[in-house]
Amino acid sequence: MGTAIGYRNNGMGVTERTDTWWIAPVAVLLGLLAFVVYSTWAAWQGEYFFWSATANPENFGGYLSPFYSPPLFIKEGMNGIPPLSHALLGPWPDWLWWLPGYSPAWLILVFPLSFRFTCYYYRKAYYRAFAWSPPACAVGAVPQKPYKGESGLLVIQNLHRFAMYFAVIFIFLLSYDAVMSFFNDGVFGVGVGSIVLLINPILLGAYTFGCHSIRHLVGGNMDCFSCSVRAKTSHKAWSLVTVLNERHQLFAWLSLFWVGFSDVYVRLVSMGVITDINSWGV
Ligand code: FES
Repeated sequence: MGTAIGYRNNGMGVTERTDTWWIAPVAVLLGLLAFVVYSTWAAWQGEYFFWSATANPENFGGYLSPFYSPPLFIKEGMNGIPPLSHALLGPWPDWLWWLPGYSPAWLILVFPLSFRFTCYYYRKAYYRAFAWSPPACAVGAVPQKPYKGESGLLVIQNLHRFAMYFAVIFIFLLSYDAVMSFFNDGVFGVGVGSIVLLINPILLGAYTFGCHSIRHLVGGNMDCFSCSVRAKTSHKAWSLVTVLNERHQLFAWLSLFWVGFSDVYVRLVSMGVITDINSWGV
């Protein structure tokens, strides 16, 4: 039988809980800080985000870091970058001189980051870890005005339901990159990098398609799930999303870790620090 825990906000961190409640907010704090620091550094580099046996623009394939996908513009002459033919919009334009490192990552990271930053799970996690408001259930919060919900500047969190559409597009883009990672200079094969880049959209898809906004999109606004063919179809979709939604926190962390790891892997192979084991023998 569970034991009810009394709650009085007698001060920051004050609680009658005797378990290790502080581990979760500290782990979230360190995990998110590590990701923000690394992803900012990686985006700043503007190089070593692509690897293939040669940079032959006539062929296709290779490993592309998810932080740089899709590369809208490419600055020629940098190290470890795709051939110019891989750029969606062509060579780096002069008017983007102000972007650090000639890095195309700055042009696309706003989409996945705005989706993650406004995610319902992450909101709970970082409100607890960074704002201690409160840090955990039945633990005293930092002194604050009476709770008014996500009002004021926090209405920007409503962006989530729109960012979701962009996040879905990125699942397809990263799936394309995963397919391309099974080719090297146009030759089919498989390498450790192919597996790394294949797992990436699978985990990101499990996270994205478990989104609360998608769950509402496919199954919300409906009073009866069995009243029509459309309603029954909706219910099936809603049930599938719910399976992922129930594991949303797990996939949030797995996908966050793996997208960072994918960049690290491609970067180290591109720099020549590690050698990719693959069927191409390169
Ligand atoms: S609620 Fe987490 S991704 Fe939408």
